[in-house]
Amino acid sequence: MTIPLLVGNWKMHGTRAECVERARKIVRGLRQIPVAAEVALAPPYTGLACVKEVLKNSDVRLAAQNCHWEESGAYTGEISPVMLYEIGCDYVILGHSERRHILKESDQMIAQKIAAALRLGLRPIVCVGETLEERRGGRTRTVIGRQLRFALKATAKAAIQNIEIAYEPVWAIGTGQNATPKQIGQVHNQIRKLLLKSFGAEKGHRIRILYGGSVKPENAETLMSTPEVNGLLVGGASLSPATFLPIVRSVTA
Ligand code: PGA
Repeated sequence: MTIPLLVGNWKMHGTRAECVERARKIVRGLRQIPVAAEVALAPPYTGLACVKEVLKNSDVRLAAQNCHWEESGAYTGEISPVMLYEIGCDYVILGHSERRHILKESDQMIAQKIAAALRLGLRPIVCVGETLEERRGGRTRTVIGRQLRFALKATAKAAIQNIEIAYEPVWAIGTGQNATPKQIGQVHNQIRKLLLKSFGAEKGHRIRILYGGSVKPENAETLMSTPEVNGLLVGGASLSPATFLPIVRSVTA
């Protein structure tokens, strides 16, 4: 049985003081409930070090929202996986649709980032997902297949244990409209099959596939009970302990 992974992606929200306050409340809240999941928080870069301080005596993990593929170099404004590892990050979110679509990251760039993160001791949470136009055009399978194949090409067989996949339909992110269990089931099954084919039954079954896109307290339990959903990537609802903690609470052993 794999333990579910719940990740709070804070995106570009929060000064250092706000991040510390939010993290403290979440850690305190988690102490009051029987947690049946691994929990990770992904503050903006500037909040990583201070949130790490808050998390240090807890089981909550630290995640970054992106990284570069080189260890160092002339890349103004970028952050390397070595720097994130040094701060104490366990995870790094890669290929988020906001980076693919707004910042024009290609499958190739994301693949390089995955390889670098793995090499330098971080666990990548690799996001894949189709746009509404792609779904309406019947291209969901093709898009997910392409994004995943690029990601897996960057992952040596030995390292596959260290990656997490997150299915995040672009049209469900921040819209309040989550994908249905049926839609999620179809894509997660496709992903699982590809993992099994590429890495064999034992390893392929162990990789967690998360769902993300308008996760909230009201739908978390249903989403988590969908077959092949092994965790949740939560954006908006992770910004407040009042909505994030009930999501964690809804995941029971
Ligand atoms: P959302 O974002 O929960 O606000 O829809 C999810 C994400 O972008 O990871």
